[in-house]
Amino acid sequence: MSIEDLESIAQAMVAPGKGIIAIDESTTTIAKRFKAVGIENTEEHRRAYREMLLTSPKLSEHISGAILYDETLRQSAADGRSLVQVMNDAGIIPGIKVDKGAHPLAGCPGEKVTEGLDGLRARLDEYVRMGAKFAKWRAVIAITETTPSSTCIEANCHALARYAALCQEAGLVPMVEPEVLMDGDHDLDVCYEVTEATLRSLFGALYEHNVMLEGAILKASMVVSGAGCPEQADVDDVADATVRCLKATVPALLPGIVFLSGGQSDERATAHLNAMNRLGPHPWPLSFSYGRAMQQAALKLWADDMKGNYAAAQATVAERARDNGRAALGQWEGS
Ligand code: 13P
Repeated sequence: MSIEDLESIAQAMVAPGKGIIAIDESTTTIAKRFKAVGIENTEEHRRAYREMLLTSPKLSEHISGAILYDETLRQSAADGRSLVQVMNDAGIIPGIKVDKGAHPLAGCPGEKVTEGLDGLRARLDEYVRMGAKFAKWRAVIAITETTPSSTCIEANCHALARYAALCQEAGLVPMVEPEVLMDGDHDLDVCYEVTEATLRSLFGALYEHNVMLEGAILKASMVVSGAGCPEQADVDDVADATVRCLKATVPALLPGIVFLSGGQSDERATAHLNAMNRLGPHPWPLSFSYGRAMQQAALKLWADDMKGNYAAAQATVAERARDNGRAALGQWEGS
């Protein structure tokens, strides 16, 4: 695959008014989401739930792609089509989470580094054969009194760059995700500083590893107040700080930036994206790659499926896609 091919996939992922739905929760993470709504975490439940999401009518009007977990990429819909086929038929680009999770970083108490580089080249080749067009790798940076260390930032950005280079070699668009976590009582300025340092390190590492920015996507966390901070920045402050931080650190050549929701409410995640786009035009499209902020309302309805809420769950996820698609254009009018 040429860089032009990667570039056109990346551009399609952030086509105007479209974003990504992240349904790549690991089996342990989805266990927590299912438990909250009283659903047993079985393979069949995970398959059925994700089929429900991916077959929502009109989803592709505002969803360009979906990030799957390894298990989901191998599963089929009730009608026998593989879920990848279902996505291709609906015009939704298949993506795959390829990291193996964040693990304690030796020598740096309380900090984590994302693993999964060993054997990654062979795994990526298999994912390409199975129809994936882009991949995702998530690093987590925690803010506390004593963290993050520069060691943690650099170790994670080095791994992100090695992953991204392997993806491009295999013919996949790398989505690079350095998530600065919302946990903590730090204020907006601290989040700004940590996000800025992380993105500087990331783009330095991508350069060192010869990653072609034209064929990559950044999945970023927003610059927000820590979840426990007594003084919460408002929507306009978050939008302003996030856009400023990105302009200071992200090359204009990148085809697009998508955000994670990170524990924000549905409404907040949409309002932040909308406010950022109202500050535009920016050097890159700013869109979404939400997991929780796309799914949580639909999951509750689906969990009540016995009462006939399947269609309502699908309508809800399509509505979240529409709201976020509008916010990606700065045209969301509120719910
Ligand atoms: P959230 O939007 O729930 O943060 O999930 C997005 C994601 O893919 C995190 O890796």
